[in-house]
Amino acid sequence: MAYSIEQLCELLGKAKAEIGKVIIGQDEVIDKALIAILTRNHALIEGVPGVAKTLLVRTLSRVLGCEFGRIQFTPDLMPADITGTNIFNIKANEFNLVKGPIFATFLLADEINRAPAKTQSALLQAMQERKVTIDCETHSLPDDFTVFATQNPLEYEGTYPLPEAQKDRFMLKITMPCPEFDDELMLARRTLGLDAPERVLEEGQVAAVVPAHELDQLREALLSVTVQDEMVDYVVKIIRATRSDESTMVGAGPRATQALILAARAYAAIQGRDFVTPDDIKAMAEPVLCLRIILRPEFEIEGMTVSEVITRTLQEIPVPR
Ligand SMILES: Nc1ncnc2c1ncn2[C@@H]1O[C@H](COP(=O)(O)OP(=O)(O)O)[C@@H](O)[C@H]1O
Ligand SMILES: [Mg+2]
Repeated sequence: MAYSIEQLCELLGKAKAEIGKVIIGQDEVIDKALIAILTRNHALIEGVPGVAKTLLVRTLSRVLGCEFGRIQFTPDLMPADITGTNIFNIKANEFNLVKGPIFATFLLADEINRAPAKTQSALLQAMQERKVTIDCETHSLPDDFTVFATQNPLEYEGTYPLPEAQKDRFMLKITMPCPEFDDELMLARRTLGLDAPERVLEEGQVAAVVPAHELDQLREALLSVTVQDEMVDYVVKIIRATRSDESTMVGAGPRATQALILAARAYAAIQGRDFVTPDDIKAMAEPVLCLRIILRPEFEIEGMTVSEVITRTLQEIPVPR
C-alpha cells in the first residue's frame, strides 16, 4: 500500500536524522539527493574534493537499504571495465559472465568527466534504460538503480566534458558547497573524537530506516501531492522561455519540463506539504535548468552566466497565485 504524505514525511524525517549522524549540515544537498531518488532519477554532484560527496552517497545507500557501488572514472577506463565481460573458463569450456561495478543500486560515478566519451556513454545508456548489454546479451539493473555522478568544477585540463545530450539524462545538478563556519567547526571537533563522521558510518551506528523494497511505496505517495493546473502551466512557461531567450543558443528541452515538475512535487513533499507552490518550482529551477542551457558565445564572452538567464526568466514569467 502506498504511504500517505504524512507517513512519507515521517520516514524522510527519520532518514534525514540518520544521514545527519554522518553528514554535518548540507541540508539542501541532502534534499536534492532525496528528490533524485524519490523520482527515480539520476543526479550530477559538483563540488571540490573533500566536501563529502562520496561519504554522502555511501550514507544514503545505508539509510535507504540499497547496495552501494563506486566507479572511479579515469582516462583509460573502457566500457567493459564498468559493464563487465564474458571470460572463458577453460575447465568448464564455457564463457562466464563477470559483472562489472555498474551492477549496483546506488552507483557513485566518481569524476565522470575523466573518462572518454565511449565509456561515459556506456554509463549514460545504462542510466536511461536500466539495462546493460554485454556481448549482445542484455542484463537488467535494479529498478532503483540511481547514479550519482561527480564532477570537480575546477578541473578542465585532461577531462572530457559531458556532451549536452548526456547532461540532460541527469534530473538535476547538486552543487555541494564547502561547509558553513559552524558546520566546519563541528567537523573539526568531531574529527578528534569517537564520533568522527566516517567512523560513525563504519561502526554501524547508522540505521537503514527505509527498507529498499519500500522505496516504491514512498514514491507512490508523491501521487497524492496536488499540482494545480496553474503550476503545470507555470513550469511549461518557464521552460519555453529559456528557448526564446536572446542569449541562449540551446534552451531546455522537454525532459527539463518533466524534471522540473517532478522535482517540484517531490520538494513539496519533502517540506511536508501535499500541494505544490510557485516557490517549490522556483527552488528547483536552477538545479534543473543549469544542466540544460547553453549560452550563445557572444553572450558568454560578455560574461553572462546561465544562472543569470535562469534568474531573469523567473523574474519575467508571471507567478501564478
Ligand atoms: N559536511 C560534512 N559532514 C561530514 N563529514 C565531512 C563533511 N565535509 C567533509 N567531511 C569529511 O571529509 C571527508 C572527505 O569526504 P569524501 O566523501 O571523500 O569527499 P569527496 O568525495 O567530496 O572528495 C569525509 O569523509 C569526512 O570525514
Ligand atoms: Mg570522493
